[in-house]
Formats: sequence, structure tokens, C-alpha cells
Amino acid sequence: MHKLFNIYNFTKFHIKKGNGSYLFDSKNKKYLDFSAGVAVNSLGYNHPIINNSIKEQLKTGIIHLSGSQLHKYKIDLADTLSKNSNKGDVFYSNSGAESIETAIKVARSFGSKNNKSQIISMTSSFHGRTIGALSVGYNKKYKSNIGPIPGDVLFCNFNDSLDLKKKINPKKTIAILIEFVQGDGGVNICTKEFAKTIQDICNKHKILLIADEIQAGAGRTGKMFAYKNYPVSPDIITMAKGLGSGIPIGATIIKKNISKIFQKGFHGSTYGGGMLQTRIALNVFNFINKKPFLNSILLKSKVLELKLIEIQKEHIDKIKEIRIMGLICGIEFYDAKYAKLLFKNLIEKGLITTLVQSNTIRITPPLTITKSEILSGIKILSNSLNS
Ligand SMILES: Cc1ncc(COP(=O)(O)O)c(C=O)c1O
Repeated sequence: MHKLFNIYNFTKFHIKKGNGSYLFDSKNKKYLDFSAGVAVNSLGYNHPIINNSIKEQLKTGIIHLSGSQLHKYKIDLADTLSKNSNKGDVFYSNSGAESIETAIKVARSFGSKNNKSQIISMTSSFHGRTIGALSVGYNKKYKSNIGPIPGDVLFCNFNDSLDLKKKINPKKTIAILIEFVQGDGGVNICTKEFAKTIQDICNKHKILLIADEIQAGAGRTGKMFAYKNYPVSPDIITMAKGLGSGIPIGATIIKKNISKIFQKGFHGSTYGGGMLQTRIALNVFNFINKKPFLNSILLKSKVLELKLIEIQKEHIDKIKEIRIMGLICGIEFYDAKYAKLLFKNLIEKGLITTLVQSNTIRITPPLTITKSEILSGIKILSNSLNS
């Protein structure tokens, strides 16, 4: 038995290497990866962009620099993220939860002069596992029996404009936090109408809009940021996961009118903005942020969607709903026990997916996956459903 903290359902096999959209175990069994390290490995495995970035970085002799030490990649990535989003200033950290912590801290501090600290988050939301991030995450399972969680958070029914209007209190609410495509919640897609209501309310009451782009950002929906599918302009944007395609990085992008009021020393991170991770993330971002590549994500999404709809028709008694935007997709089953069995069977048959909300199989392959690899995965899924 290993000595790992037993908080995961560990795989029965040991993974040894990866290439493209495939992983290989120690017996050389091949697995098609429809999970990508939980929506992280956006360029798959053994990608030249990542490999060359690491090789080039090695030539500098530098692994770590302090937060105050400037270098080209830290500056260029911040410029790129800012230019392509809300033109804000960038704070670097190492993970999604840290970029959410930064967003919460910045929003609450911004509101403190008017005694506003309430954050409205959404039902089925997930924003990370630190205590602060849990305070804005909906799933009670993740935050039970750990004592008091920071308060002043209300949860609005996702996609329910009336509920949002009821919950907003202009005297108390400082921010609305939303994943425009909820990942852990089972791939729930925000409606245009709800997004518009959020933006209208934010404009009317000077409430900050925080977009959590940690899972659905960095090209996953076929746009560089998931919020760009909606008529909104977030004040604060959180990123991580696919931005580094495997190298840990978090980024929080904060609009200038907010960031300018903060004093030096307000926040920090020892490892944030290191040369290796910002070099890789910059190259990853620029690779994804090209029209033909983003369009290819939408084309592959259509292939996946049409095939899944065919499969749903054949298994209408089992599959409740298919939800998809770009290359993030949820297949919701009526029966959670069945979904779990299927999830395990898919791994045995060589297809890795993610099981969320106990009844939904989530598909988040590398964005570089090919159309024929998608079809191979669909074949495994279909065989498994038929067996
Ligand atoms: C939308 C969203 N926000 C935040 C997080 C937390 O990110 P991390 O696990 O890097 O802390 C996740 C992770 O799954 C996520 O999907």
C-alpha cells in the first residue's frame, strides 16, 4: 500500500508516459484521454510548444525568481491576458483556488469603504478547495465538518434571473461570481438572458462581475474566454488549468479602476509569475488564440455533439441530457449508479473521462484532439453503453 492521503479514487494502473491525446500505463496499455488531467492539458501530451518552452527555459539557468523581479515572460503574458480580456492588471498565483482567493479578497477590499462584502455565487458552482474558495462554492459535501467557513455569501439559482433580482442587495452586495459554463456542477451552460440580467444588475448597482474562467477559459468553449460567448464585461477574471496546459499557474485579471486603488504589499505569492510557468502559459495562450485553431475547436465540438445526440437516441432510457459548449461536455444519466459503472468500464476499455455530480460523465479532451480521435472515443463509449 502506498502512503498517499486517501482522498482520491486512485487508478488501478500506473501511468508511465503520454503522447498527443493518449496516455500509456506501465503495461503499455493505451488510454484515450477525454479528461486531460481534469481540463488542464489543453495541448495534450508531449506537445512541442510545451517541450520547447521547457528546453528554452533551461538555457537561462533560472527556475525561480521573486515576485518583484521582472522578466519578459511575466510582462508579456500579463499584456497578452489583459489585451485579450478586460484590459486589467494581472496578479499571478499557482492554482485556480488561489486566483479565486485573490478575486474574493480584491472584491471585498474594494467594497470595504462602503461596508459591502456580500458575494452572490451560484447553485452548482465550484471555485476550489481552500477555505475561502469553499465559501463561494455551492456543494455542501466539500465544506461539511470543517468548522466555520467565511460568510456573507448567498447562492442564486443558476440561470434564474428572478432569483438573482431577489437576492441582490445594493447596500450589501459587492460582487456576483459565476462560471459561465459550470464544470464540476455537471457542465451547466449559462443562458444569454441570465448573463444579460447579471450585467444589467452589475451596471445599475455598481456591483463587480467576477468570471471564473478556470475550467471553461483558455479556449475550451471555442473562444479564448467563456464569458466572450455572452454580452458581459467582467471586472475580475480568474484563470488557471488550461492556461498552463499542465504547468501550475493561476492568474487573476483585475480591471484598472479596481486595481489602481490597491497599495503595495496588499497581496502576494512566492511562486506566482515565475519564468518557467509564464513562458509556457504565454506560448500556450498564443498557440490557442488563433482563429483557425479556435474554429477547429468548434468544428470538433459539432462532431462530438452530433455523435452524442445519436447515442442519446439509442439510449434514451439511460441518458437524460447532453450539454456541450466547445470541448466541454456533460452526459447526464438518470441513474448515478449506472454512470459510475459506465465511467469505470470506459477506463477498462481505454477511455478516460471524469465523473461529476455522481451522475454526469464530463468530457474535456485536449483541445488538440483530432476528429478521428473523437470518433474513436465515441466508439468506445457506444460499445460500453451497449455492453
Ligand atoms: C471553475 C473552477 N474554479 C476553480 C477551481 C479550482 O482550481 P484548483 O484545483 O487549481 O485550485 C476549479 C477546479 O476544478 C474549477 O473548475
